[in-house]
This record gives sequence, C-alpha cells and structure tokens, in this order.
Amino acid sequence: MIPKLYVAMVGLPARGKSTLAKRIREGLREDGINAAIFNNGDLRRQMFGPQSTSPDFYDPRNAAGFDAREHICRKNLAAAREYLACGGDVAILDATNARPARRALIESTLTDYPVLFIECVNEDPLLQDACIRRKARLPEYAACTAEEAYASFIKRIAFYESVYQPLEHERFWLRVDATANRILEERPCESSPYYPPIRDILVTTWVRRLFLARHGQTPYNLEGRIGGDPPLSVRGQQQAAALARHMEGKHIPWIFTSTRLRSLQTAAPLLAHRGRANHMALKEFDEIWAGDCEGMRYCDIRERMPQVTAERNADKYRYAYPNGESYAMLLERVRRGLQRALFLAGDDPLMIIGHQAINRVLLSLFLRRRAEDIPYTFVPQDQYYHISCLPRRRLFELVPY
Ligand code: F6P
Repeated sequence: MIPKLYVAMVGLPARGKSTLAKRIREGLREDGINAAIFNNGDLRRQMFGPQSTSPDFYDPRNAAGFDAREHICRKNLAAAREYLACGGDVAILDATNARPARRALIESTLTDYPVLFIECVNEDPLLQDACIRRKARLPEYAACTAEEAYASFIKRIAFYESVYQPLEHERFWLRVDATANRILEERPCESSPYYPPIRDILVTTWVRRLFLARHGQTPYNLEGRIGGDPPLSVRGQQQAAALARHMEGKHIPWIFTSTRLRSLQTAAPLLAHRGRANHMALKEFDEIWAGDCEGMRYCDIRERMPQVTAERNADKYRYAYPNGESYAMLLERVRRGLQRALFLAGDDPLMIIGHQAINRVLLSLFLRRRAEDIPYTFVPQDQYYHISCLPRRRLFELVPY
C-alpha cells in the first residue's frame, strides 16, 4: 500500500500559501493523485462570519478567539484524516500554522501518515503590499472602506507576527520562496512517493496564460532611434487600439507595463475596456538603457561611435553601452519583474506590454535559448506571444492582431 501524505502550509497571511496549495493540488491531480485542500480561513468564515474579520479575533491574548481558531484547526484535521481514510492520497491543510505548538498539535494528531510542512516566504515589500490590498477587497471586508480594511489586515498580520516562528524542529519540511519558486531549505520526506512531484511543482514557473506584447510603433522606431521616452506614432495608436479590440472578451485581469510612455499608451485602450483590470507599471520592464547612446539613431552610432557598433556586433549579448546596459545585465531585473508579475497575478491570466530587448529576455526565460541568440529573437509590434507553462504542458504561440 502506498503511504499517503499530509501537507501543512505555514506562513504569515498574504504570503502566497493558498496559491501554492492550489498548485500542489492541481499538479498532483494531473498525475492522477487524489488531493484536496482543507482551508482554515474558509471554515472560519462559515463558522464565525464577520466577527472573525476583526483583528482582535487574532490577538493571542484573546482566549475566545484563540479557542475558536484551535477548534477550526481540529475540525480540519479530522476532515483531512477522514479524506485520506476514504480514498484520498494527499490532504493539504491550508492555514498560517504560525506557532510551533500548533504544528506540534498537527504532528501529534495526524499520526497515521507523515506530515510535510511547507513554509511560504515572501520578503518583497511591493508584493506583500499588493497582496494585502487584494485581501482588503475580499467580501469579508465589504462593510469597511478600503483604508479601514487595509489597516485591519495589517493589524491581523502583526498579531500573527508576534507568535510566528519559522520551521525548524518539525520532522519533514520545506521552506519555499513563493515569489521565485525556489526551495530555500528542506528536511526531506524521502519515504513519500509524493515528495518528488511536490518539489517539482514548487520549483515550476507556473503560468496559466501570459500574453506578451510589445508596445506599438513610435516615431523613434521609424527613425531607427533607440531608447528615450517617445509617445506612440499614429500607426502605434492604431496598433494599440487593434490589440484592445483583439483582446475584447478575453479574461485578462492583470496588465503590466514598463514606466515608459510607449508601453503605457499601448495599454491605455486595453485598460479603458477593463474597469476592473489591475494595472501596474514596473521599472523592471523599462527598455534596455543605452547610456551615452540614448536617443541616438543606429546610423549615427555607426558613424560617430564605430567602436560601439563593432564591439556590440562582436558580442551583442554581453556588450554594455557606455554608461548603459547589456542584455546580460537585463536578465536579473527582467527576471525580478516577471516574478513579481506572476506572483501578483497568481493563477489569473496576465499581459505584459514590454519592449524589444525586454521581451527578448522575457522570452528567453521560457525558451531557454542560448545566451548569444537572445538579442536576435523576433519581437514584432503587431503580434503577441501567448505562453502557457504548467508542470505537464507547455504552449507557445505567436498570434497576429
Ligand atoms: O529600437 C527600439 C528598441 O526598443 C530600442 O529602444 C532598444 O535600444 C532596441 O530596440 C533594442 O534592440 P537591439 O538590442 O536589437 O538594438
């Protein structure tokens, strides 16, 4: 008989635990493994309703709140146990499980199969803030203003922080950087056949639907001029409008741009039709910085700075413009931008409206191109890349609009 497994999530609120729990469930199910989630937050809302939204409910000195939360935990432990007894393979307990004593309770209650703790870490303040703002929009905060909801959630987190301790003494555990899909540390549960697939799910860059477009044409593009912050040309505006028309009716709740005008103007018609889309301009997606050559035409650079052209032609990937960037230097910031965008979008479809060099580097993160080929990837202005990247399925297509 194959030994079953309990997975218990660990982490402060708004760190990405539920997204990871859902990915583990989905990834395992794709392998024919029965997995289910037992979420303490859902049970809390059902059992205690609005009174459990107040931060005081989470104050460790509030005995009634503490007892209520322990009661919810025990109920879910019993449900998880029942699930494994009745044909389930992996039961995922989704809760903060912030205190070692709570984790000891889980280990001492669930003695029939091993318990693997997965701790989610997210140290990126921008992402934490965005997650908290998203939580503050949940129906349980319907009675508050956005600012009241935000303050209330921050206070709730502070109570959890006051008792939180990272994993250390538990029998089997993994610590994961939820923003980078990286395993930071582990005490492996080698005896479980589900451990290797779970690890694989955790390190997969999980993209359900990513639309990667380049900004529309600018006067600089027409002149062969690089960098700068030009607006769209008339043709560029038409391309932006065509992109918006093409995407009409498609569910794309997240749109990321750079901070450059051409990227923002390309997003504008898309956003005009999507009242509830979340837009975020990330500096990580700003076009390669050409330093002393910013705003120059390629032909002027050839004439006036022939050594720049020659050296760039010799190694376009590694060549950095004087006081500017190389493709190699872009890699880390673009990767950080992608991680931020993917973390924020969770499992929702997203669009990134980038630039020629930026999109080349973004594409390379999915295509695993040789470094020296990255600066030659085709990045048109009237087609977008549609990318889907899941543990068992990868799709990559160039779509005209
Ligand atoms: O020409 C448009 C542009 O986005 C420039 O701003 C940028 O310097 C260039 O493309 C990057 O492409 P390449 O590396 O081929 O010069």
